[in-house]
Amino acid sequence: MLMAGSGRINDNGHLEIGGCDTVELAGRYGTPLYVMDERLIRENCRRYQNALKKAYPFGEIFYAGKAFLIVAMAALINEEGLGLDVVSGGELFTAGRAGFSPGRICFHGNNKSREEIAQALEAGVGRIVVDSLSELEELLLLTDRTRERPVILLRIRPGIEVHTHSYIQTGQEDSKFGFGLQDEDTWRAINLALLNREKVELCGFHCHIGSQIFQNEPFALAAEAMFDFMVEVKEKTGFIATQLSMGGGLGIRYTKEDRPPSIETFVEFVAARVKNAAAQRKFPLPQLLLEPGRSIVGEAGTTLYCIGTIKDIPGVRRYVAVDGGMADNIRPALYQAVYGAALANRAGEKPSEMVTIAGKACESGDILIQETLLPPVEKGDLLAVFSTGAYCYAMASNYNRTPRPAVLFVGEGKARVVARRETYEDLIRLEKPI
Ligand code: LLP
Repeated sequence: MLMAGSGRINDNGHLEIGGCDTVELAGRYGTPLYVMDERLIRENCRRYQNALKKAYPFGEIFYAGKAFLIVAMAALINEEGLGLDVVSGGELFTAGRAGFSPGRICFHGNNKSREEIAQALEAGVGRIVVDSLSELEELLLLTDRTRERPVILLRIRPGIEVHTHSYIQTGQEDSKFGFGLQDEDTWRAINLALLNREKVELCGFHCHIGSQIFQNEPFALAAEAMFDFMVEVKEKTGFIATQLSMGGGLGIRYTKEDRPPSIETFVEFVAARVKNAAAQRKFPLPQLLLEPGRSIVGEAGTTLYCIGTIKDIPGVRRYVAVDGGMADNIRPALYQAVYGAALANRAGEKPSEMVTIAGKACESGDILIQETLLPPVEKGDLLAVFSTGAYCYAMASNYNRTPRPAVLFVGEGKARVVARRETYEDLIRLEKPI
C-alpha cells in the first residue's frame, strides 16, 4: 500500500493518518473527504529549506500556491517561513487573509489583469514575474501611482522539453508562457525595464519547465540555457541578473512504480548545476529561487470515499463506484493521471481482485482509477486514494452540482476542519430566481 508520512494500519485494521483513524474521520466529517497530513507538509517545507541552505549560498523557496491554497495553507507556509507564489488575484487575496507577509509573495500569471497588477502593487508583493511585453507596459503605467518600486523578474522559456504530460509542459518554445530566448519582445522588455529604472527594479529571470518531472537533467539544461541568456543580456545591455528562479516541477509518487528523486537530491542537483553554469561563464552567482508546489503537498493528501454501487460486467471488469470523482479530482480525466488506492476500513486485508474505480459524475470519462487491486469490495467500504494533496482541491468543481468536500488537517491524533464541506445552499448562493 502506498502510504506517505504518518500513514499506518492501526490495531483495528484501519488506515490511520496523523494519528487519526480514517474510518472515524469519515464517520464524523462525511465523504468524500480530503485528509491532509499537516506534519508531512511542514516536513517537506523544512526539507526544501534545509537542502537549499546547505547546497547554495543564498536562495529562497517559494511554495507554488496553485497546487493547494486555502487560508490555513497560506498561514502554514507563512509560519514555515517559505515564500509564496501566487498566480491570481484570488490567490493573492487568500494569502492576504492569512496575514501572509507580502514581501515574501511572488506574483505570476500569463495574463494578469490591470486590477490584479494594481492589487499586487497595493499589497506590496515582493516580486512580480512579468510574462509579456504588454504586461510590462501595463505595469509601468500603474507604477506611477505607487510609492514602492516593484521588483520584477522576466519569465523566460528556456526551450526545454521535458517528459511529462503535454498539458503540464511549459518550458518548450511553443508555449503561452513567458518570453522566448531570442524574441524581439524579450529585448524590448529588458530595455524598457532598464530605461524605467525609477519605476521598476529588474532583478533577474525566471523559468519553469514543467511539472511532475522525474529526471534531473532537464533542470541542468534549463540552467545552462538561462546562464547563456544572462551572459548575452549582460553583453548586450550591461545588466547583470542577481536573481534566478528555476521554477518548480519535482514529481511525486502517485503509485508504487513512481520513483522521483528526493527533495534533497533534486535541490542539491539544481544548486550544483546552477553554481557550475555560473562558474563556467564567470557570471556572479545570482540568488536562486525555487517554486515547488506538488512536492510539498501532493503526498500529504489522501481522499476518502464511500463505496456505493458495485457492477460486474462478466468477462470485462468490475466497476466499483465511489461518492466522488472528477469533481474532486479532475486529474485522471484531464491528464490520464494514475493513482493508488486501498480499503481504509480493511487496510490489513490482502488485495486480491482487480477493479475499476468509477466516479459518480454523469460522464463516461469519470474513471478515477482504471485498474487497482483491492480486497473483495463491499458496498459501504471506505476507499482511500493516495497522493491527492496537489491539484485536486485546487481544481475541484461543482460539476453535476456536487458540493466540494471538506478539507481536514490532521496530526498528533487531532483533526481540524480547514475548509468545510459545501452545502446545497452554497451551490445556489450566487443565484437569483427569475
Ligand atoms: N512555478 C510555476 C511558474 C508554475 O507554473 C508551476 C506549476 C509551479 C511553479 C509549480 O509546479 P509543481 O512543483 O507543482 O510541479 N494541474 C497540473 C499541474 C499544473 C502545473 C502548473 N504550474 C496537474 O495537476 O498536474
